[in-house]
Amino acid sequence: MLVTGASGQVGGELLTTLAPLGTVIAPSRAEMDLASASSVRAFLRASRPEWIVSAGAYTAVDKAESEPELAYAINAEAAGVIGEEAKALGAGVIHYSTDYVFNGAGTKPWVETDPTWPLGVYGASKLAGEQALLASGAAAMIFRTSWVYGATGKNFLRTILRLAREREELRIVNDQHGAPTWSRDLARMAAHVIGACGGSPENAGTFAGVYHAAGAGETTWAGFAAEAIRMLQEREPAAKLARVTGIPTVEYPTPAARPANSRLNCGKLTATFGWEMPEWRDSLTQVIREID
Ligand SMILES: NC(=O)c1ccc[n+]([C@@H]2O[C@H](COP(=O)([O-])OP(=O)(O)OC[C@H]3O[C@@H](n4cnc5c(N)ncnc54)[C@H](OP(=O)(O)O)[C@@H]3O)[C@@H](O)[C@H]2O)c1
Repeated sequence: MLVTGASGQVGGELLTTLAPLGTVIAPSRAEMDLASASSVRAFLRASRPEWIVSAGAYTAVDKAESEPELAYAINAEAAGVIGEEAKALGAGVIHYSTDYVFNGAGTKPWVETDPTWPLGVYGASKLAGEQALLASGAAAMIFRTSWVYGATGKNFLRTILRLAREREELRIVNDQHGAPTWSRDLARMAAHVIGACGGSPENAGTFAGVYHAAGAGETTWAGFAAEAIRMLQEREPAAKLARVTGIPTVEYPTPAARPANSRLNCGKLTATFGWEMPEWRDSLTQVIREID
């Protein structure tokens, strides 16, 4: 099994969750640069994996607005090359994508067949990656997720907990709705999906397509922050932590627009693989226990 993005949030967790299933290789950026199609092709041809678990991505949502070529090279072109090489090798592909493929209209949780309409370069590049992967004809399963966080790496939760110790008040957006998703839950899901294919990439073709995979339940960024701070306060009763004040998105302008409705309906994931993503609060409870 080859894992891309092993130094990232999901990739790091994959190294642990996939290990019991077989040999895992995790090329560094120098060994397999996702920004270079020839580098990706060469590494895949030399290593000949049975599974490619593709967690590497250009994830700097705002920076993508000023670096569209790089975002597309990594998120779209590399995904297409992974698809072509996987098809040639007969490898199965597990690929992560994003709620940012949607425009955030309405309040209903998005289903996989809903029309896509990305609001920015990051979402558009990830959508192009989905399309390239599907067009390659590889046995590729694409999992769109949202609001990924974990005990390590660069993420909203870690930023909030740091700021909560430094400030009295945190003003956080409360009109974007979605679900935080623990990186470890996404890695466990990948191991489950490989297991559901009997470990055999030949069976992956049956399941090829797009799935939604986010933490169960929903909240806002302000709700997520408030809950995390409440849990940290329980862990450290003496700590002086900030209170959270909800603000509308218009008061927190960013280079890339965010979808107001990021809710993802994960019914297809459960119906197909018998896998339920845990409630976001349950996962957060565990992360708060282990975070520094
Ligand atoms: N984070 C979120 O909130 C979120 C939400 C929805 C979907 N997703 C999707 O979920 C997946 C996993 O995200 P994540 O949060 O784990 O991402 P992450 O922590 O930002 O990690 C990204 C990984 O990609 C690697 N990478 C970036 N450019 C590369 C290049 N040119 N060559 C090789 N490797 C490169 C990074 O390596 P370096 O360490 O060398 O930079 C890192 O290992 C991605 O597909 C992402 O689009 C994320």
